[in-house]
Amino acid sequence: MEKFVIHGGKPLKGEVTISGAKNAAVALVAATILCDEPCVLENVPEISDITICMKILQTMGADIQLLNKNVVRFDTRGIINPHVPYEMARSMRASSYFLGTLLGRFHDAYVAMPGGCDLGDRPIDQHLKAFRSLGAVDELKNGEVHCYADQLIGSQIYFDFNTVGGTINAILASVKAKGRTIIENAAKEPHIVDLANFLNSMGADIRGAGTDVIKIKGVDYLKGITYPIIPDQIEAGTYMVAAAATKGDVLVKNVIPKHLESITAKLRKIGVTVEENDESVRVSVDGALTKTSIKTMPHPGFPTDMQPQFSTLLTLAEGTSIVTDDIFDNRFRYVAELRRMGADISVDGKVAVIEGVGKLNGAPVVATDLRAGAAMVIAGLAAEGITEVSDIHYIERGYECIEKKLQMLGADIKRVTVTEVGSVQMSG
Ligand code: EPU
Repeated sequence: MEKFVIHGGKPLKGEVTISGAKNAAVALVAATILCDEPCVLENVPEISDITICMKILQTMGADIQLLNKNVVRFDTRGIINPHVPYEMARSMRASSYFLGTLLGRFHDAYVAMPGGCDLGDRPIDQHLKAFRSLGAVDELKNGEVHCYADQLIGSQIYFDFNTVGGTINAILASVKAKGRTIIENAAKEPHIVDLANFLNSMGADIRGAGTDVIKIKGVDYLKGITYPIIPDQIEAGTYMVAAAATKGDVLVKNVIPKHLESITAKLRKIGVTVEENDESVRVSVDGALTKTSIKTMPHPGFPTDMQPQFSTLLTLAEGTSIVTDDIFDNRFRYVAELRRMGADISVDGKVAVIEGVGKLNGAPVVATDLRAGAAMVIAGLAAEGITEVSDIHYIERGYECIEKKLQMLGADIKRVTVTEVGSVQMSG
């Protein structure tokens, strides 16, 4: 078991380079199944969710080669069995994308009900609704979803509410369907646009990604290409908040500032200085931080994946902040951990009331999920004293080399292997 040990209270200073976007990468790696030739993805983040996606492909018969750091060649032509190994599928939410890609290629897919971070109930009814609109049948047997069709026929898909995963799966299943598909009430996240750009570069005909109506004309063949994955807006936002929480001065490089607009706007509201350049943002703090209100919304609104990090920052701001997050049932589980560090937060359902306390004190805490884990690291960096963050495997799902990037910014953070009770070993 590993944990992070952080000696807090040091302002982060310097430059950090953002990796490829996790939530784009999981979709694009799964989408390689639809490609009729080998293809190459650049800017592939080295994170455990991607390792699992690649293992799934390899286990099914794909040939995957690491050409360079973060550059991977995928040849999925060897896949003949449309069956994702059960335990692998269970371990991550994005395994549901294999339903869309396998259905798109084989008209047949077996994938265990997806798992991932425990943010409450995470059904896939909208994904299945999209597949059914295209003519597929689904059944649940022994914990696995089996979707199949003689032929997928383009159709109108209307989502009952905003769903990122549902929109991605609808695109994946319909890109090679016969005829025209119209997805209405589609999600607009940058990774949906990235997926459409990737597929269009291969020869797909997808229009309107990034708006709430996406139109797709099915094609028969997708050719091999080389494609760079977009930078991770949430990783960027996390370093921006870490810079602010430690009253540091950090240049966050390899970002698309447009994707960070809602994050930048809230940081400025709190009193943080954010300078935007073409492909970087510089974050610094001069004076005191002040309260604000946040309500998470689908893109281009404020992302739920930044809520725990911002709530942590707001514990350090003057005044009472209100944070509402109703995208998932259970996104305030980290609050109990933050309270161990002296935070004054009360939660009533989907609303947190945060009384600024000015400073946090180091404590042993647990990462309860990926973004909660990032929030604990930020809290530890800003706190006085020592913070130990355990269950860091959640953090590794989505942050490439987080402790190394933070060390480069001057943070005192170490990965420690706990070999037995009371005995720890430094692992750099
Ligand atoms: N929902 C349903 N039925 C469905 C699909 C979704 O009820 O068929 C509900 C969900 O339970 C949730 C809401 O609709 O309450 C929104 O879910 P959505 O489908 O938009 O989210 P997702 O695809 O499961 C992705 C990201 C999440 C991110 C959300 C919202 C990936 C792999 N995951 O999840 O990322 O929070 O969109 O932006 O892309 C993270 O990176 O930490 C993370 C959790």
